[in-house]
Amino acid sequence: MTSPIDPPDGNWWSEPVNRRETIWLGIAGAWSLFLFSWMSGWVRAGDQNPTGETYEVSPEQFREKVNEYKEAAEETGDGYVPADEHVYVAGQRFQWDGLPAVLESGTRYQFHFSSYDVQHATNIRPEHNLSAQMNFDILPGYEWVVPMAFDEPGEYHVICSEFCGDGHRTMHGTFTVVDGG
Ligand code: CUA
Repeated sequence: MTSPIDPPDGNWWSEPVNRRETIWLGIAGAWSLFLFSWMSGWVRAGDQNPTGETYEVSPEQFREKVNEYKEAAEETGDGYVPADEHVYVAGQRFQWDGLPAVLESGTRYQFHFSSYDVQHATNIRPEHNLSAQMNFDILPGYEWVVPMAFDEPGEYHVICSEFCGDGHRTMHGTFTVVDGG
């Protein structure tokens, strides 16, 4: 069988590497090392640690907290109106416990995020600009408390942005933010 491609001449596989190629390989190697160490450096120098605090909590304990929160909240057609500045949201396959909720703009809330089963991510987006978003990865066993205020009233979608199973795309909730004056 003949090949339509002509083989290169001579012992092409045993030629020494061209000096320029060696230099490029060196530059690429040094740059990779620089980027790799900068990942670690930027976490420290760039103040990249996530805001808020985390606590260990079992899914059962967190479910109790969410139930207490929902009992204390006022239930309206648009969702739960929290009794105080604490807001609880739990992810589970495939819905959000604690949502929908009605909040006020300008009020600084303590958002408590956790999961009952697997890793989810609470992704919050204003309806008028869905590409503006905040994302909180949530894990079973940990409660993440994030202090946060909504500047503007409006409808905010809450979706799951961590693939969690065949109903992942149906995990949808809302924050309705009313004018807090
Ligand atoms: Cu929960 Cu994807």
